[in-house]
Amino acid sequence: MLRVLGIETSCDETAAAVVEDGRHIRSNVVAAQVELHAQYGGVFPEMASREHVAKIVPVVEQAMAQAGIQWADLDAIAVTHGPGLAGSLLVGVNMAKGLALANGLPLVGVNHLEGHIYASWLASAEEPQFPLLCLIVSGGHTELILMRDHGQYELLGATLDDAAGEAFDKVARLLGLGYPGGPAIQKTAEQGDVSKLRLPRAWLEGTYNFSFSGLKTAVLNLVKQDGLRAGDSRLPVGDIAAAFQESVVDVLVEKTRLAAEQFAVKQVLIGGGVAANQRLRERMRERMPAPVLIPPVALCTDNGAVIASAGYFHFAKGERSGWDLDVVPGLRLADDE
Ligand code: KG4
Ligand code: ZN
Repeated sequence: MLRVLGIETSCDETAAAVVEDGRHIRSNVVAAQVELHAQYGGVFPEMASREHVAKIVPVVEQAMAQAGIQWADLDAIAVTHGPGLAGSLLVGVNMAKGLALANGLPLVGVNHLEGHIYASWLASAEEPQFPLLCLIVSGGHTELILMRDHGQYELLGATLDDAAGEAFDKVARLLGLGYPGGPAIQKTAEQGDVSKLRLPRAWLEGTYNFSFSGLKTAVLNLVKQDGLRAGDSRLPVGDIAAAFQESVVDVLVEKTRLAAEQFAVKQVLIGGGVAANQRLRERMRERMPAPVLIPPVALCTDNGAVIASAGYFHFAKGERSGWDLDVVPGLRLADDE
């Protein structure tokens, strides 16, 4: 049995977890910074890295205590080294190096996106069935990835402008719904009537790319057209939120379905914070031609367990990072990452 400590600090969650054999979660501690960033309506990078500095030690200590293990019981330390905010990533990477050095443990650098992919098998009895398709939708990413084996990734398409989660966050701000926007839009949409309004869908036919900026502008025009503004009680926020959510979900689901058919995949996975969206989860389950794996909501947003799980698969293949492991804010998902 192999036990990995996973550390994640790429954005605004300070997180650490202990996972056994890449599947069994012994602990998963997440200190979110939502309240801190809510006042700015989005993540404030400088503040995020300072919060990581203040929280990383207690978060790691708590993950070890909850797992009920000693340092000697670990086999490796996995850490996100990109993509993400440079100042935030540095905190996690340096913590991981310090712990690895002090305890004589191997270090494994992990791509954050792989964490969102491996979330699907974590805490699940399913095995990966290749080829498979992954839709990663988060605050910073909207990517459709074909995976032919562990460590073999082909990027089929990505967003040309805003990420899906970013669109949720920006539209929530336009509607005066607060931050983070995803959960706020989902909740508000439940009170709305989805048939009242129809917002545009950017199909970008012939490609697997996405675009959400036109949709955001359409919402802005709707708000301005009535001479209203965010927070005005006359704004039909429920209907707008429902129409917006439907438009995003429609494009995500239909483009994923097309790719799943074209590449005859055996499994479809979704991951990233937006995969927590109930409407997306529902529509994915209805529309895919192959079995769909969706992580529990708590494993969709950023956490250390998914990093420990992705790190385990690299570690088990004999991969190790050197002391020169660097942070790479724009890290891409490459083959044998
Ligand atoms: O994966 P994540 O925790 O962090 C990044 O790597 O970006 O994703 C955060 C994003 C935010 O944009 C947030 O608004 C969105 O995920 N999100 C949701 C929901 N919960 C979180 N979007 C739509 N519906 C949700 N229920
Ligand atoms: Zn993420």
